Amino acid sequence: MTNKGEINLNIGIDKIGFYTPHTFIDMVKLAEARGVDPAKYTIGIGQEKMAVSPVTQDAVTLAANAALRILDEEDLEKIDLVVFGTESGIDSSKAAAVYVHDLLGIQSRARSIEIKQACYGATAGIQLAKGHIALHPESRVLVLGSDISRYGLNTPGEVTQGAGAVAMVISADPRILSLGDQSAYLTNDVMDFWRPTYSDTAYVDGKFSNEQYISFFLNTWKQFKSQTDLSIKDFEAMCFHLPYTKMGMKAMREIFVEGTSEDEERLTRHYKNSTLYNKTVGNIYTGSLYLSLISLLEQDETLKPGDRIGLFSYGSGAVGEFFTGILQPEYKEALAEAEHAKLFAEREEVSIEEYEEIFSEVLPVDGSNLQLTIENDPAMICVAGIEEHKRIYVNKNR
Ligand code: HMG
Repeated sequence: MTNKGEINLNIGIDKIGFYTPHTFIDMVKLAEARGVDPAKYTIGIGQEKMAVSPVTQDAVTLAANAALRILDEEDLEKIDLVVFGTESGIDSSKAAAVYVHDLLGIQSRARSIEIKQACYGATAGIQLAKGHIALHPESRVLVLGSDISRYGLNTPGEVTQGAGAVAMVISADPRILSLGDQSAYLTNDVMDFWRPTYSDTAYVDGKFSNEQYISFFLNTWKQFKSQTDLSIKDFEAMCFHLPYTKMGMKAMREIFVEGTSEDEERLTRHYKNSTLYNKTVGNIYTGSLYLSLISLLEQDETLKPGDRIGLFSYGSGAVGEFFTGILQPEYKEALAEAEHAKLFAEREEVSIEEYEEIFSEVLPVDGSNLQLTIENDPAMICVAGIEEHKRIYVNKNR
């Protein structure tokens, strides 16, 4: 028997890695180009830089590049389920996970699937992975969240674009975060953000989407408390899906009335660290919550093993979930901090004009073939072109 809210199966995140394309723009320069006060973007929205994805990267390659950083030979042998959460998938039939499975060389006795529900997809993948590990404790599951966020040039959503992927290995006795068995979730059919199959940019009702996000957070938080004995004081930190870094704070500050000034100070202090990476990447949709988690774990020196972290996942449309994890004794050693520091350090800034050109470079949709130059893209795994309606992927290491 366990108490309400207590973790009774030690399943969770064993490894976590991240990838973002090598080019970015500065938000102050974007604001100047759009005739907006830069403080609106840097303070009002809370973004400093935005990843810009070249045509040689897509959701598949971003995810494969993220996973490449964390998987070893033993993972390739033990992974028997690959779950790919994305809302910028490249095919209406074939799962992006199948391409990644091949590009990484994962053993063939595996299930590989794609999950879609806006930014919630990777969280659904984690929950599926937990069930799989509970039945097969020796297995490992690769969960991917990978997206390129596109609203369009000169749109209100432009400042909240981004590109990147997070890869996680879910296993028994994880080294980073043990996930709780209690979880609060909610579905409600709302049209706050969507992307019809004929459009490569999203449609959004911006203000409504902010309201829905907060409402889903408050609803799932309330539900979570009623399912457990936990309250605000039990959380050392909280991580949020971050479409832009002010969004999570807008939601979190709604519950500060439930705690003391120490609770508010502690959660705010950790929140800042949980937004550092997202501030310089932008919205990566499915991977966004987990990028925030990586940012917190790698940049926050005051966290310690045993700390409880709350996680709020939101996917427009909408599905929300609030769940928790406990930091494991060796979590610091299991992170890929040096890899991520190198990735950020090697990025190149492009001008707003260059970004606009890159944004307009898309793969043909009329069935014609195209060969791309991948030499300028430092990523190990790239899209090399399209031939007879098939994307050509290259792993430069093979
Ligand atoms: P907007 O209309 O351009 O901006 O849209 P605004 O006028 O609402 O201003 C934004 C903030 O900047 C406001 O702060 C202003 O006061 C402030 P707030 O009231 O919100 O605290 N501001 C300034 N601050 C300092 N100095 C200044 C200044 N001027 C204004 N000079 C919006 C903003 C986010 C709505 C837009 O960019 C958008 O539509 N983005 C896309 C939708 C989105 O990100 N929604 C978030 C919730 S939904 C979600 O998270 C799911 C999603 O990830 C998709 C999925 O699930 O797949 C999007």
